[in-house]
Amino acid sequence: MSGASGSFGSVHRVSDEQQESNETVYDRVGGDAFFVALVDRFYAGVAEDPVLRPLYPDDLSESRRTLAGFLAQYWGGPPDYSDERGHPRLRMRHAPFTIGQVERDHWFAHMVDAVRSADLPEDLEAAMLEYFDRAATHMINDSPLRFATRPE
Ligand code: HEM
Repeated sequence: MSGASGSFGSVHRVSDEQQESNETVYDRVGGDAFFVALVDRFYAGVAEDPVLRPLYPDDLSESRRTLAGFLAQYWGGPPDYSDERGHPRLRMRHAPFTIGQVERDHWFAHMVDAVRSADLPEDLEAAMLEYFDRAATHMINDSPLRFATRPE
């Protein structure tokens, strides 16, 4: 187990072989550089997305840094994100932004593109896509009634 990063219930290993070698996903993908590149590709998509772009700050460099740090930590890397930001509490941190099904689907689609272009081993690609699918759904904080209740 690599230090404090185990305390957020993350899935560090994705197969029995990994379990035996004690190697984390973070190690298998090559460490920080993988997550920095993944997040760069993800934000290249967000930057061109008319639904998502307005939610983010003009300068995306901090967004890149925090997301890459969070993901590296989540997948078994050093707990740099939490050292700097405290417990992730991601739903709470997203509360200021309206995230409905549409925003979630756009976010997830950019992440799917970013993950698929990494050319990962099959088990890792599946584990990451499954995680992002679930995590993105978990971030929804807006009801479909937003549209149904809009005054004429
Ligand atoms: C479902 C759609 C989502 C939308 C629309 C969304 C949008 C945003 C926005 C607008 C911010 C604030 C700007 C920034 O700091 O970058 C943010 C922050 C962040 N998001 Fe998301 N997000 C979504 C899902 C996710 C998911 C699934 C994860 C993790 C797997 C995630 C991880 C983060 C992190 C780590 C931060 C920085 C939090 C901090 O301040 O420490 N987001 N997100």
